[in-house]
Amino acid sequence: MKFAGCYHGHSDSLLIKAGSGALTHGHPDSAGVPASFARETIVLPYNDRAALDAAFAANPGQIAGVIIEPYCGNVGFIMPDAGYLAYLREITAKHGTLLIFDEVMTGFRLARGGVQELENITPDLTTLGKIIGGGLPVGAFGGRADIMDHLAPLGPVYQAGTLSGNPLAMAAGIAALRLLEEENPYARLDALGRQLRDAVLAAAKAKGLALQCPQRGAMFSLFFTPTPVREYSTALTGDAALFRKFFHTCLENGVYLAPSPYEAAFLSTAHAGADLDRACAVMTAAIATL
Ligand SMILES: Cc1ncc(COP(=O)(O)O)c(C=O)c1O
Repeated sequence: MKFAGCYHGHSDSLLIKAGSGALTHGHPDSAGVPASFARETIVLPYNDRAALDAAFAANPGQIAGVIIEPYCGNVGFIMPDAGYLAYLREITAKHGTLLIFDEVMTGFRLARGGVQELENITPDLTTLGKIIGGGLPVGAFGGRADIMDHLAPLGPVYQAGTLSGNPLAMAAGIAALRLLEEENPYARLDALGRQLRDAVLAAAKAKGLALQCPQRGAMFSLFFTPTPVREYSTALTGDAALFRKFFHTCLENGVYLAPSPYEAAFLSTAHAGADLDRACAVMTAAIATL
């Protein structure tokens, strides 16, 4: 089971309603994925408890695992409703279904322990990427020992690759994680995120323009819509023409955002100070032209 708008990489049975890249080009599902693979996956709306209840009731004993971006970053940035992730943990435990948190974006970005630390929820498995490689290409997954023991060479589940455990990527990752421990940048990153969110929301208010700007830590999104964005379908209510104009005005003035309203934006500590002040000035001026 997965959630509409969540992206979990190029894995055939998960490349369904997979957000940003696919969404921007209008083809949520990839060519080349056999329908029989797609049929193995149940896709539910994010933040919808009733849909979870219904899916578990309709498929008793059949749902092996649930994978989720606990804070969603691939249909723009979307936060869970209060209690939603705890409910997901509860219902998966009740049905003996594995809960997988995909923290490829959120891991080490929002907290050293990811969303699971912020929300105090322990999934059965976690996937990680991006920051764990300190800029080098690597992904990782881990979790309960009894599950990990199924992997080769201890168990029958094959897992290997030329670059698995690549020493260069491991060294870069360890260096990045040590720096994060020493610098503990998370409160600073959240302050930067709030500075930017407050600036764009104030500009939209002054202009009389409906804007949603969900933000947590270094992650944020701009949705030009009056509708609070809670999942995929409300993300799609964002005005694409307004976003396009906003994006190009920012670009012409030296602020390079992702060229899609469905990509979460990330800040870094390197943006602190004059650069972020300038980004705020450019983005608020761009909103004033809309
Ligand atoms: C949440 C999430 N999971 C998985 C992936 C896949 O990672 P990779 O591109 O390293 O395969 C991404 C990539 O953006 C992602 O955002």
